[in-house]
Amino acid sequence: MPSDTYLLALDQGTSSSRSIVFDRQGQIHSLAQQELPQIYPSPGWVEHDPQLIWQTQLSTAQQALKQSGLTAAQISAVGITNQRETTVLWHKQTGQPLHNAIVWQDRRAEPACAALRAAGHEARIQHSTGLRIDAYFSATKLQWLLQHLPGARQLAEQGLLAFGTVDSWLIWNLTKGAKHVTDVSNAARTMLFDIRRNAWDQELLDLLGIPSSVLPQVQPSSSDFGQVHPAWLGASLPIGGVAGDQQAALFGQACFDSGMIKNTYGTGCFMLMQTGAQFELSGNGLITTSAAQTSQQVQYALEGSVFVGGAVVQWLRDGLNAIHTSGDVQNLAESVPDSGGVMMVPAFTGLGAPYWQPEARGTITGITRGTSIAHIARAALESIAYQSTALLDAMSRDACQAGAKPVSQLRVDGGASVNNLLMQFQADLLGIPVLRPRITETTALGAAWLAGLQAGVYANTDELAQLWQPERQFLPTMGRARAQEHMQQWDHAVRQATAA
Ligand code: G3P
Repeated sequence: MPSDTYLLALDQGTSSSRSIVFDRQGQIHSLAQQELPQIYPSPGWVEHDPQLIWQTQLSTAQQALKQSGLTAAQISAVGITNQRETTVLWHKQTGQPLHNAIVWQDRRAEPACAALRAAGHEARIQHSTGLRIDAYFSATKLQWLLQHLPGARQLAEQGLLAFGTVDSWLIWNLTKGAKHVTDVSNAARTMLFDIRRNAWDQELLDLLGIPSSVLPQVQPSSSDFGQVHPAWLGASLPIGGVAGDQQAALFGQACFDSGMIKNTYGTGCFMLMQTGAQFELSGNGLITTSAAQTSQQVQYALEGSVFVGGAVVQWLRDGLNAIHTSGDVQNLAESVPDSGGVMMVPAFTGLGAPYWQPEARGTITGITRGTSIAHIARAALESIAYQSTALLDAMSRDACQAGAKPVSQLRVDGGASVNNLLMQFQADLLGIPVLRPRITETTALGAAWLAGLQAGVYANTDELAQLWQPERQFLPTMGRARAQEHMQQWDHAVRQATAA
């Protein structure tokens, strides 16, 4: 393959649409980004305008291409990665959405989920989809749309409607309606997909009253998803890679072997462990999901998420006015040697995995007359590492129960991974090296690599593993006894938060 081979990744996230042109080595050649407006129609509801999702994404792809100085013909393939679970329903003949997209954070379907739990469907649904029943996933969002939009059910039964997560919606538009498809990693987030059989779960569709005609065709993450119409980027380009953003990041971190883990430190934190071909249900509060697949061979991952990660820094800035910009947190936190015994559990919206305590609320413990705002800032920053450690401990226990090797390192990315103080404390708590890669745009890189494999730019994942390089390694410096003491204090603080 010539060295001047390029790949275009479209990264459609919750707060912005981004497009990146990568060269064959994975270096960023150009990048364009546009914010995506958030819509909050009532408390607990979060929506996006699907047309804006599409327009901002297309416009950043055009900008990135223009900035790169390349012609579209020099792009070997396009990869797509996206915010997961967010649900779009559109008319197949007009291509018009019937409603705003219901975003993954939206809680309106909670009553439907409670009813499913009360009817005793939890074990059945977990057995097939790997998920806990929750309004986070697409199934009950789609059910809500079919129940609440006048005429929607009838149109769906006539085969005139298409449902999709954001990847499907983008591909539909990129191909001008030629393809209604998704990949396994996105399908796995719908709570309608049987990840053991790699097929839609007909029994679940019947239970939720969802006609199968609305569903996209599911493909491996690295496969032929159709061609970008020449009207959009000036040439017809193959879409060769698609994955949900967290699974794309796992791929972009080259976590190809069982037991390899990545953690993305964004507004929340998403930790995924590659578990290979083995479907494992977590005994420790995690969910099972499909990892990005490069062939028909199924790959799984265990996943846990922290609801309030980097968002705690935003709260220090906007709620407490303790800092002017998020970047100021490191200096303030470093102005004291430690948190002075202060513990913060930022359970602003309850606690997710491994605790699953929706009623928990934020708590600060250990305050004395000597506590300053710097101690609070340090405790806030450290809370991100504590929560991530609890997730990794749960993953380690699952791995150990399955007879796998102990976890040996953590690969990190996302906005807050640039914070050295946080990464060092993370390594100290975990007792294993924390590795930050040279290219921290791992989500987009994962999508580009999936597309590059399909296009023959790369021969296999071994070649990709060679391209992954650490920028910095944080080695644990704290004794294990001290780290365990810290975790005991954290567990104590969590108990206070859940008792509140
Ligand atoms: O599951 C939700 C996740 O995919 C959203 O990611 O980075 O767009 O907030 P992000």
